Amino acid sequence: MMTPNTAENYVARARAGGYAVGGFNMHNPETTQALIAASIRSQSPVFLQVGRAIVPHMGLEAAYRMTRRELDGTEADAVIHLDHGTYGEVFEALRLGFDSIMFDGSHLPFEENLKTTRYVVQVAHSFGVPVEAELGSIPDASNGIDWSAHYTNVDEAERFVAETGVDFLAISAGVMHGISSGDPLPLDIERIQHIRDVTGVPLVLHGASGVPASDISAAIAAGVHKLNADTDLRHAFRRGIEETWAKGDRQFEDAMSEGKRQMIEATIAKMREYGCAGASTATVLTEARAR
Ligand code: G3H
Ligand code: ZN
Repeated sequence: MMTPNTAENYVARARAGGYAVGGFNMHNPETTQALIAASIRSQSPVFLQVGRAIVPHMGLEAAYRMTRRELDGTEADAVIHLDHGTYGEVFEALRLGFDSIMFDGSHLPFEENLKTTRYVVQVAHSFGVPVEAELGSIPDASNGIDWSAHYTNVDEAERFVAETGVDFLAISAGVMHGISSGDPLPLDIERIQHIRDVTGVPLVLHGASGVPASDISAAIAAGVHKLNADTDLRHAFRRGIEETWAKGDRQFEDAMSEGKRQMIEATIAKMREYGCAGASTATVLTEARAR
């Protein structure tokens, strides 16, 4: 039977295969095209994420429609995902036709996050859309972070997943949004394993930019099957633009093309590192037929 291309399937297959699927943010047509091209070239499933930077800039609906327009008609194994959605945005995303949503209630007190996430899950599931939620909070890169105020609590995670019915849980385990100053990350692998064991759902690690490959593999082995990265790919795009304009005046389009080229390479490298390269449904089906 044909496996449907859904966010749940991507993550379930990743869990069964011992790898993680990348969730990467789009920012404009060229960065969306770069993620789609990387997915096709490396035959990798991918979450195309509409996230916190693009929404105030373009608006949720325009960002979604642009991503859908770029994706439709391509062979990419991709779903469109709302990243760090607010309460209002998740309902708008369901109306628009997002394939997958994240409701981020991590700023709320625990009981309120639980209650609100539970309601979001009920509504999203009635549309057949899976939900990622966040517990604990992922800090922005800075020095002197008090991790005890951010780490996901294992007992709370158990209750949160059991009572909300959330499909994937984004946890805080020592990784930050953005790139840290160079100090080793206080990545708590044991905490990830405990959360996996008590919740039974696939875990999501945000802020995967600048995280050493050995930490990424350890996190996957501990139960992380979706990894969100943005900054590293944005930097790759920016490098392409800067290198083009460092050569003197050039057309805007030349700079964009080189940014896109460098972002495709950087995205493929991440897909290989996460183990999802070669794992698209199309590849799996072709290999099954050849057997
Ligand atoms: O939700 C998006 C990611 O968590 C991005 O984090 O920019 O540190 O890679 P990053
Ligand atoms: Zn994030």
